Amino acid sequence: MRLDKFLSSRNMGSRTQVKDLIRRGLVTVNGRTVRSPEQKIDETRDQVCCQGQTLRPGGHVYYMLNKPAGVVSAVRDDRETTVLDLMKGCVLPRDGVFPVGRLDRDTEGLLLLTDDGETAHRLLSPKRHVDKTYLVTTARALSEEDLNRLEQGVDIGEKRPTLPAKASLLKDGKLLLTIREGKYHQVKRMLLAVDNRVLALKRVAFGGLCLDEGLKTGEYRELTCQEVEILHET
Ligand code: URA
Repeated sequence: MRLDKFLSSRNMGSRTQVKDLIRRGLVTVNGRTVRSPEQKIDETRDQVCCQGQTLRPGGHVYYMLNKPAGVVSAVRDDRETTVLDLMKGCVLPRDGVFPVGRLDRDTEGLLLLTDDGETAHRLLSPKRHVDKTYLVTTARALSEEDLNRLEQGVDIGEKRPTLPAKASLLKDGKLLLTIREGKYHQVKRMLLAVDNRVLALKRVAFGGLCLDEGLKTGEYRELTCQEVEILHET
């Protein structure tokens, strides 16, 4: 499909208006500025951004939510508030949007939501080892030896120890832990393995994406064009 036709079909303006936007360099296709309205694009695959707004390839949507504690990472639940309930004004379960993986009910922070099953599946595949970074408040101070053990891999009762991780202490004593797996309650179980306990847990990064500091707990926003590209490259 022609780029100008695609943009007007996505309500970015009349054919004349979108031609003007394209010529002014305000439209990118897969990260590159395209200045010719007749350029052909594959609307099912190409990542088109117009004035900073992502026009989902294949019509997909991608959101980042700063999940609050006390909310479950599910589409629907008869008793509990779900992450989709927080987004009611914007997406509905029937839109096919779901959380990419789970954070525990009491965990806060970065949760991706999308209707792009293929990308979600890739990000969650145990073979991919996508990095996830957590800010951890622990019950007791961690020693250098604890950090080394967390980095090298600890026994959490699975067949194998956890994969190598990155662990460092921040000035306030909190632990910054990057893991490459997503086992059930993994961070909590890793801290138990070094005779400690998690008091509070917040995910601050997932794949190449960092939690937007500007998002208050419970707030969400659409991913930017660059962020969607990062996701597709992860
Ligand atoms: N590890 C945990 O223990 N809980 C989470 O929610 C995420 C990682």
